Amino acid sequence: MIVAKSGLRSSVRAIIAPDGNQISAAEGEPVTLVLADEVDVSRGDMLVDPASRPFVSDQFQAHLIWFDANPMLPGRSYLLRTETDSVSATVTVLKHQLNVDSFVREPAKLLQMNEVGVCNIMTQRPIVFDAYKENRSTGNFIIVDRVSSATVGAGMIDFPLRRADNVHWQALDVDKAARSALKNQKPAVLWLTGLSGSGKSTIANALEALLHTCGKHTYLLDGDNVRHGLNRDLGFTAVDRVENIRRVAEVAKLMADAGLIVICSFISPFRDERRMARELMGEGEFIEIFVDTPLDECARRDPKGLYKKAFAGNIANFTGVSSPYEAPENPELHLKTMGQEPARLALQIEEFLRSRMEEK
Ligand code: ADX
Repeated sequence: MIVAKSGLRSSVRAIIAPDGNQISAAEGEPVTLVLADEVDVSRGDMLVDPASRPFVSDQFQAHLIWFDANPMLPGRSYLLRTETDSVSATVTVLKHQLNVDSFVREPAKLLQMNEVGVCNIMTQRPIVFDAYKENRSTGNFIIVDRVSSATVGAGMIDFPLRRADNVHWQALDVDKAARSALKNQKPAVLWLTGLSGSGKSTIANALEALLHTCGKHTYLLDGDNVRHGLNRDLGFTAVDRVENIRRVAEVAKLMADAGLIVICSFISPFRDERRMARELMGEGEFIEIFVDTPLDECARRDPKGLYKKAFAGNIANFTGVSSPYEAPENPELHLKTMGQEPARLALQIEEFLRSRMEEK
């Protein structure tokens, strides 16, 4: 017998049941196994017949059926559960949707309730599985919402994707600690979220100038700028916004790894993606700053004339008007901007950062 993830070989020395030792165990019977060798068996592992080994991979193609009223968005992080394991997962590509009446393949950007799609899924670490057509219990999974714990989807695995096999993480000699020590600072990702026109960019700008004069090494990532380059292919649908934040968070992570204090200024309207960004960064590194300006005030200021157009129905999916903004529930800093100077608010962030440096 083999332990699937590690590929280590061992055999069963004893089978212990509630009434004592047994010489065999049948399907569905709960027993404790004693192995002949000391091998590491952990959550998600399987003991398998060497002649029929399962796949061990972090990428596979699957058929997915969606149950939830909130659509499945590629790029969003969900919890994937198999019979034996539970792991963070994202749909990397939605290849097509299957029309359940005609079985015709139709192009799709997301899956709505009761829709079925064929997609590529990536898990945060490798899992053990079979193709559903080979084994129904080890080839199926469910998708669980990370906040509500509700089952939002279910799937059948088609086959593993091999593309990750030959790409290894390159271990580097100069690491984050070395890079930030040279800069004499603690890396941080200061994440400003709020409505369009709430003052994020103005505060971010003032903050960067302030940190710069204090001798800090910084970089400012701003929605309007990033959308001219790296994210020029993305618009403002929910799917595109998820991808916008995913890419920006990955870039911010690299910059923090370079030892920088990164200031991110994005509407980032969805809690799920802000949490995803937080989870990408090191412990205590992500600082969520809610730039809280009432919608009426943003619309009154209307620095780019976008609210006027949005209210006239000329911009689709405009945040706060025709697309939701989910305010942070527990930000590290909550800045109410009414009657406050941007420079004063920037100073407040700088003070927060300094107190964090002193905590160390
Ligand atoms: S996010 O929602 O994906 O985080 P991001 O911060 O990158 O948005 O970009 C927001 C900026 O794009 C706004 O400040 C505004 O200038 C512009 N914009 C254009 N269309 C829209 C829209 N439909 N909703 C919100 N902002 C828009």
